[in-house]
Amino acid sequence: MNSNFTPLFEELALRSGIQLKNRVVMAPMTNWSSNEDGTVSEEELKYYERRSSGVGMVITACTYVTRNGKGFAGEFGGDTDEMIPSLRSLAATIKGQGAKALLQIFHGGRMCPPELIPGGDLVSASDIPSDQNGNLVPRSLADEEVEAIVRDFGEATRRAIEAGFDGVEIHGANGYLLQQFFSPHTNRRNDRWGGDFDKRLRFPLAVVDEVKRVVAAHAKQPFAVGYRFSPEEPEENGITMDDTLKLVNVLADKQLDYLHVSLMEYKSKPRVGADDSKSRLEWILDTVADRTPVIGVGSVHTPEEAVEVLQTGSALVALGRELIMEPDWVQKIVEGQVNEINTTLSKQDQQRLVIPDPLWQGIMNAPGWFPVVDGDQK
Ligand SMILES: Cc1cc2nc3c(=O)[nH]c(=O)nc-3n(C[C@H](O)[C@H](O)[C@H](O)COP(=O)(O)O)c2cc1C
Repeated sequence: MNSNFTPLFEELALRSGIQLKNRVVMAPMTNWSSNEDGTVSEEELKYYERRSSGVGMVITACTYVTRNGKGFAGEFGGDTDEMIPSLRSLAATIKGQGAKALLQIFHGGRMCPPELIPGGDLVSASDIPSDQNGNLVPRSLADEEVEAIVRDFGEATRRAIEAGFDGVEIHGANGYLLQQFFSPHTNRRNDRWGGDFDKRLRFPLAVVDEVKRVVAAHAKQPFAVGYRFSPEEPEENGITMDDTLKLVNVLADKQLDYLHVSLMEYKSKPRVGADDSKSRLEWILDTVADRTPVIGVGSVHTPEEAVEVLQTGSALVALGRELIMEPDWVQKIVEGQVNEINTTLSKQDQQRLVIPDPLWQGIMNAPGWFPVVDGDQK
């Protein structure tokens, strides 16, 4: 192996005691391929199995913690104890290939397609519709409902522990319910869950505290807790980089195993709330100041790019689309076959890459997300 790439292969011990064999993480990616009843499908297990032997840690697609948080068709559930065998099969599949398995726990809030949730009862922090959801007006959650969802995140964590996962990632990013409470655009409340910055932070922090309480009460082995957030929102009065740095400053003292920024491009610069002398990732790393490991992500395709993310100060680097296109990304680096790494896919690749039908259709129908080319791949 080229010695320039050795930083990718350093071990890392997380705060909880989880030991990672290297610095490469599979980013959480929804694949729309679970069964109607919320269980993980065989196709999905094969897809994860194919991608879990090189990376140190796999973060699963998001799973709903309660039925009215189901955000995607073909999303698997973590909402009832009946789902534990299904969750166990997913954890065992990932761990069987040598990676640590983390379950991403989630509530979609106003972004849920109404046909997927009981009674179409769309909920959020406040009654602000989302452009992506046909402008349907969500219902503002009552105080006791907010508390119930906090407990739902705890219950999903308990199920993850019982199913044998090595940890959970709290999905506070990409415009879903936690972010809807944090954002001044979507949170217009005047009770204890909204108003000023501290109150908007209360729901995400209540989820963190509840998840950590459940881990302390139930986990008999090391169990990691991470938190994912998005740095900025495009909407008027949305989250700015300044808000995010304040959030990150609080989270960095929460004794979490890691913080995970959600970015499509690791070099991207702030739009509002911080100057563009540094990338968003650099701003976040400077704020965290080594208090907690940070995962960098976004359009990392080559090992050189991955090393650059680590050299910026990220403890870990996550790959999403690249691991769909190249399941052997880590192995090819180890074996000195860097020139053989595929950074595109072709229309003939579905079987070779072990990609379930719904994800494959998603890839084919989203030009620009994936570089689809003609001809054979390496
Ligand atoms: C098909 C697809 C599904 C995704 N689903 C999720 C998800 O469930 N949870 C999440 O936090 N991010 C999700 N993401 C975002 C990725 O985790 C990642 O941040 C993004 O793709 C940028 O990384 P990449 O350039 O390496 O793909 C998804 C991305 C893709 C392409």
